[in-house]
Amino acid sequence: MDRRTFIQAFGAGAASWLSLSRANASAYQSLRSLNQKYIRDNSPDGKYWEAVQKHFCFENDLVMMNNGTVGPIPEPVYNTFTHYIRIQAANPYDCYAVLPQYKDTVRQQLARHIHADTDEVAVTRNTTEGLNLAAHGLKLKSGDEVILSSHEHPAGIQPWRLRAARDGIKIVEAKLAAPPKSIDEIVSSFEAAITPRTRVISVSHTVYLTGLIVPVRELCEMAHRHDILVVADSAHGFGMLDLNMKSLDADIFVSSPYKWGFAPTGLGMLYVKKPVQDSLWPLIASSGWDTLGSAQRFETLGQRLDPLFFALEEAMKFQNQIGKKRIERRIKTLAGYLKERLHAIDRVRVHTPDDPYLSAGLTAFSIKGVDPEHIVNFVREKHNIVIRTIGRESDNTLGVRVSTPIYVNMDSIDRLLDSVRYLAEKRS
Ligand SMILES: Cc1ncc(COP(=O)(O)O)c(C=O)c1O
Repeated sequence: MDRRTFIQAFGAGAASWLSLSRANASAYQSLRSLNQKYIRDNSPDGKYWEAVQKHFCFENDLVMMNNGTVGPIPEPVYNTFTHYIRIQAANPYDCYAVLPQYKDTVRQQLARHIHADTDEVAVTRNTTEGLNLAAHGLKLKSGDEVILSSHEHPAGIQPWRLRAARDGIKIVEAKLAAPPKSIDEIVSSFEAAITPRTRVISVSHTVYLTGLIVPVRELCEMAHRHDILVVADSAHGFGMLDLNMKSLDADIFVSSPYKWGFAPTGLGMLYVKKPVQDSLWPLIASSGWDTLGSAQRFETLGQRLDPLFFALEEAMKFQNQIGKKRIERRIKTLAGYLKERLHAIDRVRVHTPDDPYLSAGLTAFSIKGVDPEHIVNFVREKHNIVIRTIGRESDNTLGVRVSTPIYVNMDSIDRLLDSVRYLAEKRS
């Protein structure tokens, strides 16, 4: 069912849906005609990306260069979300009698978006929920071992610690450098930690401390040879990378589409490979947990905020109007520009690999002798640029982290770099 057919089936919402549809159609028309211009404009900046930026609603020239925690919602997604949330005020009956029917269509689109089969995806609430599902739902016995990298986010550590406290599983650490030098160095670190009791590797795909993109495909090749499952935490991946479940081959893969993916907070993406579904217990049960023959049985959560599903659909549509490959290329081009210039500044150490296979939109760095908090406050006050502090001294990751999403331009990066140069020189 497409959205038009769906909407025609419900009376009260149909008229206001028409105005929503007209507003968003003009936004997409402008993106489509821009696609033609892009073909003629192959500069990394230029008219195309300036026009894309206009679809975002930032106030007071805010330059949002932290897509961790939450990122922005572009206008068509905002329009769609507010349109559907209003239905609960105007006609709550439609909220339960009509809106839920559309969720299957969104799941299908989500599956297509990440190159998975429809019965392998579920819409959860966030990455933390997906990681808890993996840690508590997988069938593990006391003494079984789970390997985590030394750079996991708390949401990738605490669920396993809880499982260890409850069931006696053992957590083993594989060290990651900041930055690692090669795919081989990363994969070997995990392989060296394997013992006959290892059952799972749970690892960030997008490492929050350093911006490393862990080579999940190569890691899975190695892990699967040892009969070990891989859980990938790609909290930042949806919307940053053109994700392909078939080629990455993780067993469980989770993301939060409200960081880089233009969706509102409260939506999580869960992928569970078909053959693995029977090895995973749901954590929350309502009708369907034992009968649904798909990953949907991991989201029998009772009532949900269904407008989020419509917003997710719109967020994917927004990405598709630009193109997922083009988005990834743009993000990497901006990050490459930033890193090249950071390397040229004395006293600056970049914690993120240069290789665009091992990095994407997150760049972490430090300035020797300068408090990361001072860098964050300085660029916010001087240029209204939002970045964040990150890391810890103990493993050389203490510094700041910068995102380079599609709505940022070279000019903003240049302003950030001017501040970094100033702070590094002032210190020396
Ligand atoms: C790598 C990583 N994993 C997990 C999370 C937790 O994400 P959420 O709060 O969306 O569940 C984050 C948050 O930024 C993250 O960076």
